[in-house]
Amino acid sequence: MAAPASCAVLLALLCCLLGKTSADEACGNSLLDTQQFPWHVLVYKNTTGERHYICGGSLIKPRWAVFAAHCFKGESSPELLGASLGKTVRSWDRVEDGEQHRLVNRIFTNVDKDIKGRQAYDIALVEFDQDADITSSVWPLCIDLKGELTPLQDGDEGIMFGYGYEFDSFDDDPPKDLKRNTIHVVDREKCEKFINGGSRFNGADKFCVDAQRGSVIGFGDSAAGFARQNDGRWYLRGVPSVGVATQSLTFFTNVTAHASWMSKIVDQ
Ligand SMILES: *[C@@H]1O[C@H](CO)[C@@H](O)[C@H](O)[C@H]1NC(C)=O
Ligand SMILES: *[C@@H]1O[C@H](CO)[C@@H](O)[C@H](O)[C@H]1NC(C)=O
Repeated sequence: MAAPASCAVLLALLCCLLGKTSADEACGNSLLDTQQFPWHVLVYKNTTGERHYICGGSLIKPRWAVFAAHCFKGESSPELLGASLGKTVRSWDRVEDGEQHRLVNRIFTNVDKDIKGRQAYDIALVEFDQDADITSSVWPLCIDLKGELTPLQDGDEGIMFGYGYEFDSFDDDPPKDLKRNTIHVVDREKCEKFINGGSRFNGADKFCVDAQRGSVIGFGDSAAGFARQNDGRWYLRGVPSVGVATQSLTFFTNVTAHASWMSKIVDQ
């Protein structure tokens, strides 16, 4: 009589253990092919019954994604925000195989100041209403919450997903399909020499990246973050924050600089 019950308990336990293991170990772990964008998250706002794309971000846990804080500046109705995962075309209405939708529960920003002037603290954590299912087309990036990875240096390579704008104008139609590009870290001093009038953005919690315009980072387009492999796993290292209009340089919020703030929120 007791056997079926303990079996059920054992099964449930196994399920939990397996479930937990797969979610934790799934992070960043893949032989990513060029057709995959598994951590890319798109956020849309429901205005008058239509979903308008706001920003791209990166999945870091089944329930959490990282975005730039400027995406949500002045946002007072998170209940109107929806997130889509496992998606490559921008239109909310074109549902793809394996796509998952979640609602936005809460948005956390680190320090709610100075976003406008120097774009410092340009990082936000977005919590979904429910965990995303970890599948072959949806899985999170790892985050170096303990700061154990070697700091990024000049020339270090990463990848990034985004739509990009093919033309330097908000009026031109943006491309609808997701792209993937290789981008490189540019040393702080070198970056300083290149940028004209952009120095105020080159703050302590930023690093500089070289990315050709119209490639993956586009004017007015906020895409998923700077991901770099370490020991076979992909880590989120930076969040695109602000670009310098006439150059291919973009400043990224340094995720490591915000790691302890992030771990307080996502590990609670
Ligand atoms: C958002 O818009 C859709 C139409 O695309 C509508 O069906 C839905 O009820 C809306 N949701 C909210 C929370 O307003
Ligand atoms: C990012 O922040 C960490 C911690 O503050 C720092 O050690 C590291 O050098 C920074 N990375 C860059 C590329 O500035």
